Amino acid sequence: MAGSTLKIQDLHVEIEGNEIIKGLDLQISGGEIHAIMGPNGTGKSTLASAIMGHPSFEITQGSVELDGEDVLEMEVDERARAGMFLAMQYPSEVTGVTTSDFLRTSINANREEGDQIPLMKFIKKMDKQMATLDMDESFSTRYLNEGFSGGEKKRNEILQLLMLEPKIAILDEVDSGLDIDALKVVSNGVNSMRSDDFGCLIITHYQRLLNYIEPDYVHVIMQGRIVKSGDAALAQRLENEGYDWIKEELGIEDERVGQSQEA
Ligand SMILES: Nc1ncnc2c1ncn2[C@@H]1O[C@H](COP(=O)(O)OP(=O)(O)O)[C@@H](O)[C@H]1O
Ligand SMILES: [Mg+2]
Repeated sequence: MAGSTLKIQDLHVEIEGNEIIKGLDLQISGGEIHAIMGPNGTGKSTLASAIMGHPSFEITQGSVELDGEDVLEMEVDERARAGMFLAMQYPSEVTGVTTSDFLRTSINANREEGDQIPLMKFIKKMDKQMATLDMDESFSTRYLNEGFSGGEKKRNEILQLLMLEPKIAILDEVDSGLDIDALKVVSNGVNSMRSDDFGCLIITHYQRLLNYIEPDYVHVIMQGRIVKSGDAALAQRLENEGYDWIKEELGIEDERVGQSQEA
C-alpha cells in the first residue's frame, strides 16, 4: 500500500477559551520527515494533541484529513486505527499494565477481530525491536512507564512506534532528557521506520536531534502559525542564530516565551 497524506488546513485550536493555534497549514506524506521547531509555548504540543483528539483542545476552525478522510470526525481510537500515532512529550504511567500487554493490546486494537497478532509473532517482533532500541528485556514485564527514567520513557515511546508501524507519526520532544547514546538509539529507531509508507512530524526544541534524523522539511512555528519553512539548513541556522532574525523578518515583537512546562 502506498503512503498516506495528512493534510492540515487553516487549523485553529483553543484551550480554555485561549486561541493557541491560529490558522496552521501543514501537509505530511509518506516518505517525508518534517520537523517543527519553535520557541517554548508557541503551541507545538497543542498542535500534536489537537490532531490526535485530546479532549482539552477545542478545534474551532479548519480541517485535518488523512487521505481525504475527516480526522476530526474520528474517535481517538479510530485515529490510531487509521494509522496515526503520537509519541507524547510527557508519557503517562499506567499501573497494573505491563509494557508488553499494553503493546499487544494496542496492536490488536488496530487490527480486525479474528486477525489478532499471534502471540509468538508478537514476542519475536518485540524482542527484535527492543534489541534495536538497546532496551533491557525486563522492560517488557514492567508496568508501563512506572518508574521509567526520562530516557527510558522516550525509548518506550519509540518501541511503541516500531511495534505499531503507523503511517503517520507525530513525535513530540522525543529527544528531551536523552543523553547522546540514547539520542542515537532513539534516532536509529525512527530512521529504521523510513519508507514511502511512513510520514513523520518531529517536534523538537533543539536542532541536535536533526543531526541524527535528517528532516526533508523544517518548519518554524510562532504565534500559532507556521511562519517559515525550509530544509535542514533552516534548523542549522536556528541553532546558530536563534529565532530573533525570524521575528525581525516578520515584524513580531512580543512572542510569548517561557509559559510552557517544557523540560
Ligand atoms: N492544558 C492546558 N491548559 C491551559 N493552557 C495550556 C494547556 N496546555 C498548554 N497550554 C498553553 O498553551 C500554550 C502552548 O503550549 P504548548 O503547546 O505546550 O507549547 P510548546 O509545546 O510549543 O512549548 C502555552 O501558553 C501553554 O501555557
Ligand atoms: Mg511542548
